[in-house]
Amino acid sequence: MQIIHTISELRAWRKQQARVAFVPTMGNLHAGHMALVEEAKKHADAVVVSIFVNRLQFGQGEDFDCYPRTLQQDAALVAERCSNAVIFAPDEKELYPHVIQQYKVEPPAIQDELCGAFRPGHFRGVATVVTKLFNIVQPDVACFGKKDYQQLFVIRSMVEELNMPITIVPVDTGRAPDGLALSSRNGYLSADERAEAPRIHFHLERMHKAILAGERDFAALAEEASSDLLTRGWAEVDYIEVRNAKTLKPATHTDHELVILVAARLGKTRLIDNLDFSV
Ligand code: PAF
Repeated sequence: MQIIHTISELRAWRKQQARVAFVPTMGNLHAGHMALVEEAKKHADAVVVSIFVNRLQFGQGEDFDCYPRTLQQDAALVAERCSNAVIFAPDEKELYPHVIQQYKVEPPAIQDELCGAFRPGHFRGVATVVTKLFNIVQPDVACFGKKDYQQLFVIRSMVEELNMPITIVPVDTGRAPDGLALSSRNGYLSADERAEAPRIHFHLERMHKAILAGERDFAALAEEASSDLLTRGWAEVDYIEVRNAKTLKPATHTDHELVILVAARLGKTRLIDNLDFSV
């Protein structure tokens, strides 16, 4: 497995390739990432998996310092699945040589809603690093997981509005057999917390069923789920909301494409999940 650390080397490699599919990650790869790699393989002759823990998208007091960094293990996983992939793993000096990134990509108001309301600047950091990575890798296709639904929305609208010649491919959320969405942050959970964590998915399913059965009091459904989580000892429910799946605007009773989005803290771990569907 070729691991490329510099932009110049990556650009030289890119010149030799025809169609390239790109999977941007922060590493500590799991089956959810591997589904992205599998999808990427379908769209191009060569695949780039980037591994970069992007300081710019972490707020103060968040887990930037302790975010798991497992490059060799990640490279072995990708090599098992994809013979025509390279890993792009720049260090911070390579991607942010000026220490402070002065030019940033500013997403619209959605960046301050949902996760953005609890992680100020997060989506600016994501949009900025993804733009840099797109400029370096110059992919034809890029795969993003639906687990980070708001991120996927921001990237899709950025690519559209900034005329980036890249097709964004959404990939379904990988789940453990008990329904918990796969995430690198699941590794922070204690055994008891891990047993409790699928409760988020349980509530997504319950709200989904209620809406399919005709319930349209979205706030009441969210309130019921939220108070159950808090009663069971969850530290905080950042939000549970039903939104229009296409626009991410708060859902109205006449919307047909919906997504339920949740972010909640179990102990010190912040978990997010969502479920999109048609009614
Ligand atoms: O989803 C992630 O892992 C990150 O937000 C991304 C897209 C790799 C940007 O750092």
